[in-house]
Amino acid sequence: MKQKYCFYLNNGINFHYSGLTYCNKLWQDHTFQQYDKDFLTTFFKERESVLENMKKGVCPEHCKKCLYLQEVNEDFPTDNKIKYIEIYHWNQCNCACVYCSNRETTKLKISTGRNQQGVINVLKNLKELHKQKKLDPNAEISLVGGEPTILQEFPLLLKFFIKNQYKVNILSNGIFYEKYIAKAIKANHDSSICISLDCASRENFKKIKGVDKFDDVIKNIRRYIKDTKNLSHRIIIKYIILKGINDTKQEIDNWINLCASIGVTNFFPSIEFCHSVKNPEKSELTQEICDLYEYMKTRIKESDPEFTISTYDFVEGIIKNHSYKIK
Ligand SMILES: C[S@@+](CC[C@H](N)C(=O)[O-])C[C@H]1O[C@@H](n2cnc3c(N)ncnc32)[C@H](O)[C@@H]1O
Ligand code: SF4
Ligand code: SF4
Repeated sequence: MKQKYCFYLNNGINFHYSGLTYCNKLWQDHTFQQYDKDFLTTFFKERESVLENMKKGVCPEHCKKCLYLQEVNEDFPTDNKIKYIEIYHWNQCNCACVYCSNRETTKLKISTGRNQQGVINVLKNLKELHKQKKLDPNAEISLVGGEPTILQEFPLLLKFFIKNQYKVNILSNGIFYEKYIAKAIKANHDSSICISLDCASRENFKKIKGVDKFDDVIKNIRRYIKDTKNLSHRIIIKYIILKGINDTKQEIDNWINLCASIGVTNFFPSIEFCHSVKNPEKSELTQEICDLYEYMKTRIKESDPEFTISTYDFVEGIIKNHSYKIK
């Protein structure tokens, strides 16, 4: 009999603003486990019951249209240790990107200070999971947010990951520099920071992010590259193509040249995907944007064959297979 399988369900945990979940595809409609007294115990029980049903070929409604749902013939992998951790338990940021998915999912608030609180103490819970040996030693931890660098718990979380050699991927707008990010990358060379720069000029930065911090971000990218020495490929710079704002070959060329001039070697082309995945009829994805995405990849490689291109597998799917409606 065919079984259903999802590696996030089997090995993932997501400390989200709305509660705990085993699913990290937040654009799917699914339920969150509330942060009550025994939420971790309830979480593992709930996950077990969904996995049992998947073995019988039955999956929750919200999984049915998910790209990550697989059908397998063989038995489920038995190793249920936590390998993918998403940390997403606050809803504050120091800017306001026009594309931000959190505006809808967490009702994102603008907070300029660096002492913002999450809805629970994630470090305490991670230490507990670590103590119970429920975390895989090669676990991949992603700090997503909101903006991680304004979270009060952030340096403490990083110290814990550094001490235990966990791999951590930080997604940040780069407005603040945080020394523990460079330390985390030096402690585990698979760790990384991905900064969404999205443009090559102060003007476009203001249009996209709503704040005048372009120069600070460029300065901080330089500093992360300098402070991680020969690990520049772990400083990843993203560009989300946005209709009517940065969707020109000129801006893309300028972005590649600017990044190259400050020592960037890892480039991350992307598109606005939340609407495209959740709500194809509202998608702003056009053939022109798909073509620009491919143009960006070609130009990066032409600039220097040694440059690395990072991608999301599902974005590649959207672009290549046109698996979502394109206007
Ligand atoms: C929600 S942000 C939070 C972390 C951090 N503040 C940042 O912007 O990098 C996480 C990642 O999702 C990306 N993102 C947010 N909304 C998106 C959207 N609608 N389409 C594509 N990527 C998006 C951002 O570029 C960022 O890399
Ligand atoms: S919605 Fe997708 S990622 Fe989430 S548990 Fe289901 S199959 Fe896995
Ligand atoms: S920096 Fe990140 S969290 Fe803040 S508005 Fe932009 S995408 Fe959203």
